[in-house]
Amino acid sequence: MKILTICFSGTGNTAKIAELYRAAFESEGAQVTELYLPEATEKIKELDLNEFDLLGFGYPIHAFNAPENFLKFAKSLPKPNENKKAFIFKSSGEPVRMSDVSSLKLIKLLSKHDITVTNEYQYVMPYNIIFRHSNAMAYKMWETAKKLVPVDCREILSGNARKVKRMFMGGFLAWVLRIEHGGAHLIGRHFKVTDKCVNCGLCIKHCPQNNIKLTDKGKFKFGKHCLICMRCVFNCPRDAIKPSILNGWRVNGAYSFKPPETEEPKSKHDDYCRKAYNRYFNAAQEKIENFENSTTEN
Ligand SMILES: Cc1cc2nc3c(=O)[nH]c(=O)nc-3n(C[C@H](O)[C@H](O)[C@H](O)COP(=O)(O)O)c2cc1C
Repeated sequence: MKILTICFSGTGNTAKIAELYRAAFESEGAQVTELYLPEATEKIKELDLNEFDLLGFGYPIHAFNAPENFLKFAKSLPKPNENKKAFIFKSSGEPVRMSDVSSLKLIKLLSKHDITVTNEYQYVMPYNIIFRHSNAMAYKMWETAKKLVPVDCREILSGNARKVKRMFMGGFLAWVLRIEHGGAHLIGRHFKVTDKCVNCGLCIKHCPQNNIKLTDKGKFKFGKHCLICMRCVFNCPRDAIKPSILNGWRVNGAYSFKPPETEEPKSKHDDYCRKAYNRYFNAAQEKIENFENSTTEN
């Protein structure tokens, strides 16, 4: 079986999930080609979608939607000669049910290209905006995803569809919240670089929208194509980028995804959405255990 996955990841979380998918599919004997945005826009032209048996689409949830560049990419996809089945994997900072609506627009766009989404999965990963999850929580999220993705892969390969239930008026809500796409362009223009900057150029080099430039006078200029993916802010080695009105929500520095070596200080965010996180971890655990039991029985 030949599988093509196309992924966008602002700060690495969704890319980590895409890697889990590749490893899990390959261990089942499938052949996986991975594309990442923005390079995918060009690379897809060198591929023939008809050669793939299954397509996978992965993105981080932004304001209960798929990021703008991902939807734009989906719109420009070539149409295969016959219907293709697809799955979606999303990463999000929290497991609230409303996130389920984030894929509605993408599913609609794909269906216009005769691509039918049969399976959809959401993985909770640490926040890259709003607040920094504790290392213990990030580790728990990652350990859960590592066990869950292979189970979800088997579900996809076995042909068992998995659709998510949408909340009432979810489509309308997601449509309203897509105001974030335009908002990102506006807010992104006002990002500032502070004196802490050492001109390493990482932000310029890695911006997925090629939106950061250095002027002749050596000043940073943020253009109008920002997605607020937070890559520049998150990866700045000097924490020197202030994301305008989102500065209070700034998260800087990669998560280690390892268990904390020392006890972490209590945080006011420890109880944030506690019920929803517990529900997510419990459901994941149950699915993993059911799968393990079924394989030992066979
Ligand atoms: C602009 C923006 C909006 C976000 N909106 C949501 C959201 O609506 N719900 C959510 O659970 N997480 C939200 N997040 C958190 C990310 O989805 C989450 O941290 C994700 O794992 C990041 O993936 P990435 O590292 O692949 O970019 C948002 C992040 C950003 C930058």
